[in-house]
Amino acid sequence: MNQATPTLYDRLGQRDGIARITRSLIQNHLANPLVKTRYLASENLSRVEQRVIEFFCAGAGGPEVYSGQDMLATHRGMNISEQEFVSVVDDAMAALASNGIDPATRSEVLSILWSLKGEVIRV
Ligand code: HEM
Repeated sequence: MNQATPTLYDRLGQRDGIARITRSLIQNHLANPLVKTRYLASENLSRVEQRVIEFFCAGAGGPEVYSGQDMLATHRGMNISEQEFVSVVDDAMAALASNGIDPATRSEVLSILWSLKGEVIRV
């Protein structure tokens, strides 16, 4: 008998679910006046989207390998504010909710994202 809680990766719908959530996330960013210019400035948003998918898959316990830069190197020099950070986290919570992810799982993702703030804000 195995009644263990499914992994975070499974609860997010594995790679397909995480890809859908990431698509919603980027769409939310592009519709968000507080952060959209950041993403419009990217030279290759579809590459960023692929890397974000990998990052979430690997971070949630999936077999995917993250091929991007670490969070500090990625965001270094962007001078990202606290308000922008909260805004991006809000976009992520909305993307999870609109893709049917339950509140307990959303809270788990929230605490993971929050733990990364020192590697993103004003680095
Ligand atoms: C915990 C929060 C965050 C996580 C987990 C995260 C994660 C990532 C990842 C995985 C990438 C792709 C890196 C690569 O291509 O090598 C990325 C890129 C990017 N992030 Fe974040 N990010 C966060 C917060 C933010 C915030 C608050 C902003 C500013 C509003 C931001 C702006 C960007 C931009 C503009 C890029 C694209 C850079 C490029 O074009 O190469 N991120 N982020």
